[in-house]
Amino acid sequence: MVDEALARSFRGAGEDYHRYRPGFPAAAAQAMLSRPVEAVLDLGAGTGKLTVQLVQRARRVIAVDPSEQMLAVLRAHLPNVDARVGTAERIPVGDTEVDAVTVAQAFHWFEREPACAEIRRVLRPGGTLGLVWNRTDPECSWDLACHRIAHPQATASGGEEGEEQVEQLPGFVFAERATFRWSETVSRADYVRRWQTVSTFLAADPAERARMTSAVEQVLATDAATRGREQLVLPQLTDVFVYRRAETDRVVPARTPGGVSLVGSDVGATAEEIMADVRADRS
Ligand SMILES: C[S@@+](CC[C@H](N)C(=O)[O-])C[C@H]1O[C@@H](n2cnc3c(N)ncnc32)[C@H](O)[C@@H]1O
Repeated sequence: MVDEALARSFRGAGEDYHRYRPGFPAAAAQAMLSRPVEAVLDLGAGTGKLTVQLVQRARRVIAVDPSEQMLAVLRAHLPNVDARVGTAERIPVGDTEVDAVTVAQAFHWFEREPACAEIRRVLRPGGTLGLVWNRTDPECSWDLACHRIAHPQATASGGEEGEEQVEQLPGFVFAERATFRWSETVSRADYVRRWQTVSTFLAADPAERARMTSAVEQVLATDAATRGREQLVLPQLTDVFVYRRAETDRVVPARTPGGVSLVGSDVGATAEEIMADVRADRS
């Protein structure tokens, strides 16, 4: 069940979201679009953090998001992208109009069944659905501690209780998964501001937001890797899941259940562990 208040929290986030949130490695876009296509739809595109990687890979790029404010930022830096207000449950795109649909950091906000039916409708037969999430590297103690502040419901293993498995999607066949390890250098101040663009911070009242911000600052002040440092080297893991549009609109068991390719470096996690982390990273 999607938390509507958290899902709506991004609506006013535009500029700050774009400034402070990380992007995605080019290899992640390559994994979702391994060869150039005619048309791609970036669904839940936000300010265009993934969309920017799609413009060299498709002749036509459509971006859909419910937030006019997020799309205004996207339009400013990607004027050639066809940006449309809409939702995953009601996509403003014609039947079989696109070769691929990508969803970055947003699939967990969608109502699963109607969204899958809509994505299937806009995809041409054989088209692909690529899902991507950045997530915390569990070996990075300070980022993991901050993640726990933002997502206190996450269990010790990184999962979130009561959530459903998402490996199988109605109308799609799971094709493959890839994980990319990368890192970025971020200033201490920007790292704190980044957390303030996460849904739980955005939806919190001012007192709670101040408490969470102070808790993040406390982590940075005490962890040996961040104490006294103005520039932080932040490791990131990016997971990509690729599905193919099935002939049927029902759930189709994957032909290659172990269809996992770890790229970059072996992070030593099973598909279930990675999906648990993905579900916990409701950011
Ligand atoms: C964490 S942001 C990700 C934005 C962008 N894809 C990125 O990676 O930076 C989640 C996005 O999902 C959008 N969103 C929330 N509910 C949605 C829905 N039902 N359909 C489509 N987009 C939705 C929000 O407006 C927001 O832009």
